[in-house]
Amino acid sequence: MTAAANSHGLTFRQDYFGDPPAWAALVALLEDTFGIDVSIQDRFGGPDPTSMPFGYFDESGVSAANFSGFSMPMMVDGRLVKAAGFQSGAVRPQWRGQGLYRDLMNRAFGWCDEQGFELGILLTDKPAMYEPYGFRVLPQQRFLGAPPPAETRLAGTVRELSLDNAGDITLIRRVLRERTPVSSVFAATAQAEMFLLNGFFDPDVRLTYLDQFEAVIAWKEDETSFQLLDIAGKTILPLSAILGSFDRRPDRVEVFFPPDRLDWQGTQETFESDISLMVRGSAAGLSGPVMLSPMAEF
Ligand SMILES: CC(C)(COP(=O)(O)OP(=O)(O)OC[C@H]1O[C@@H](n2cnc3c(N)ncnc32)[C@H](O)[C@@H]1OP(=O)(O)O)[C@@H](O)C(=O)NCCC(=O)NCCS
Repeated sequence: MTAAANSHGLTFRQDYFGDPPAWAALVALLEDTFGIDVSIQDRFGGPDPTSMPFGYFDESGVSAANFSGFSMPMMVDGRLVKAAGFQSGAVRPQWRGQGLYRDLMNRAFGWCDEQGFELGILLTDKPAMYEPYGFRVLPQQRFLGAPPPAETRLAGTVRELSLDNAGDITLIRRVLRERTPVSSVFAATAQAEMFLLNGFFDPDVRLTYLDQFEAVIAWKEDETSFQLLDIAGKTILPLSAILGSFDRRPDRVEVFFPPDRLDWQGTQETFESDISLMVRGSAAGLSGPVMLSPMAEF
């Protein structure tokens, strides 16, 4: 425990999501820090059961500081990699600048190493803070181009899903459990919680179920382009089949993950964002152009 934590009477706790008041205290910390309400996860089956939160609480149970790791198996360069994601890093303003977060980073990255994770992943607007711990920024690329030749409209039904519908949530969770990674270059293999949360937080994201393929397509569109964010299904459909099923003929397609399984090639373009993707560990020497699907962001 840090001297600052001692002098403020803070208590360290780890792996505390089984305690509802402590989970509620973290929800409040994240709401106050980032303006997002992660308690919505309760509607989607609760927080990720692999989460390993590290936090400091004051005497009345207020969450003063937190940093969480979670298991996030990834497909990287054709290989299944045991990866950990890190998220929910926050310290309340009155407790900042005293080393609390340094303490929690050391604990979380130590846990990651003890557990034998080969890759650590995080997204941040403060990359310099994580460089001393071995993280490096991985530039992200999206893929743009003309659509493939149109395929005739395929059989089967195409249905828009709603995250307000319990049956649709169950369907999405099942499909996510059974999914094939959307890319063999860089993709999450089984992460349901963030897919649902990202779909909920961005009202422009549309989730469409193709029953013939038992696949959920996450996508957006504007006047000129069709934006493919993710595909959750047992098989990854070629882009031509998706556009054929949707009966769409966009001028342009943008793909937000490596398109190696789409039977289509786009032109790479650097994805500009204030948020950097950072990686650390023995599996961090990636070769291909990468992008973490926006549906897997955390
Ligand atoms: C960023 C934040 C978590 C830091 O917490 P903190 O308890 O004040 O941090 P610490 O005092 O433990 O400092 C840890 C290290 O990070 C560095 N650091 C702190 N804030 C930083 C910032 N904004 N940018 C870069 N480095 C920073 C410190 O200099 C310190 O480095 P050192 O170990 O070499 O001395 C806190 O300011 C916060 O909650 N900010 C708002 C939410 C946020 O940005 N979260 C991080 C999301 S990735």
